[in-house]
Amino acid sequence: MEKVSNIIPYFIKQLSGIADEREIISWAYISIEHCLEYNRSDCIIHAEKQITTSLSDRFKQIIAALKTNKPVQYILGETEFYGLKFIVNEHTLIPRPETEELVDWILKKEFSSALDIGTGSGCIPIVLAKNTNAIISAIDVSEDALVVAKENAKINGVEINFFRQDLLKTTTLPKVDVIVSNPPYVLESEKELMLDNVLEYEPNLALFVADNNPLLFYKKIGELAAKSLNCKGKLYFEINEKYGNEILEMLRKIGFVDIALKKDINDKNRMLKATKK
Ligand SMILES: C[S@@+](CC[C@H](N)C(=O)[O-])C[C@H]1O[C@@H](n2cnc3c(N)ncnc32)[C@H](O)[C@@H]1O
Repeated sequence: MEKVSNIIPYFIKQLSGIADEREIISWAYISIEHCLEYNRSDCIIHAEKQITTSLSDRFKQIIAALKTNKPVQYILGETEFYGLKFIVNEHTLIPRPETEELVDWILKKEFSSALDIGTGSGCIPIVLAKNTNAIISAIDVSEDALVVAKENAKINGVEINFFRQDLLKTTTLPKVDVIVSNPPYVLESEKELMLDNVLEYEPNLALFVADNNPLLFYKKIGELAAKSLNCKGKLYFEINEKYGNEILEMLRKIGFVDIALKKDINDKNRMLKATKK
């Protein structure tokens, strides 16, 4: 790897067989952006630029880590979500594109206060704070995740009230206009369908829920939200596509109205919105 134009072919040569070529190219561009701050056009403009030995060694380290199935976001220690930069590590889920769609949905209506439950990297409350003047709070049971979330709030220049709290032991929530949650929703039995890079590296606490109680978090949040949301307040969930109708029915029984499911870009029921009467 002597010059910029060699980097992509080098990634492809080293990693073919690990993933398909499109994904390898995407990893290469993410790594170039991280190490050189070059976007795709910059790579063309600077194609002939020489790269230093230390930079070339850094790319080789990244490739070695990619060969162990480690997600590129954990290798680089950062990712992008809704156009903002976020630190991620083994204590935080890597924010997903479907969660960007959820945030986008929330931002379509005005609100003055919001609470995010199970905040992980803090991606949801930080984007909400960046795009509104609302007062935003967030909770997570993981102290380690909260350390990352607080750092992300600082990097992105927003104020969020973070609290360490176990939702399952919580009896009341603050009065707010919006409650949002992307809780653990993958069934233990779905583990075997998941890719090794998710299973080996992403925190189990963030992902899985027992097969015999798939709606555990949704029911608990629904019941608490019915009491704590302001009048006409909104509850937003990211959901397991299998349980859209069950969650909808459960919230209807609790007393929510105007309940709507929304499909993600892959045409799967992935989000739900409900209104307090
Ligand atoms: C699916 S991750 C979502 C992370 C982030 N909101 C996102 O969308 O990328 C679920 C989060 O819920 C947190 N969590 C799991 N059990 C919890 C509990 N009992 N109380 C509060 N948070 C919990 C996990 O630590 C994790 O950060």
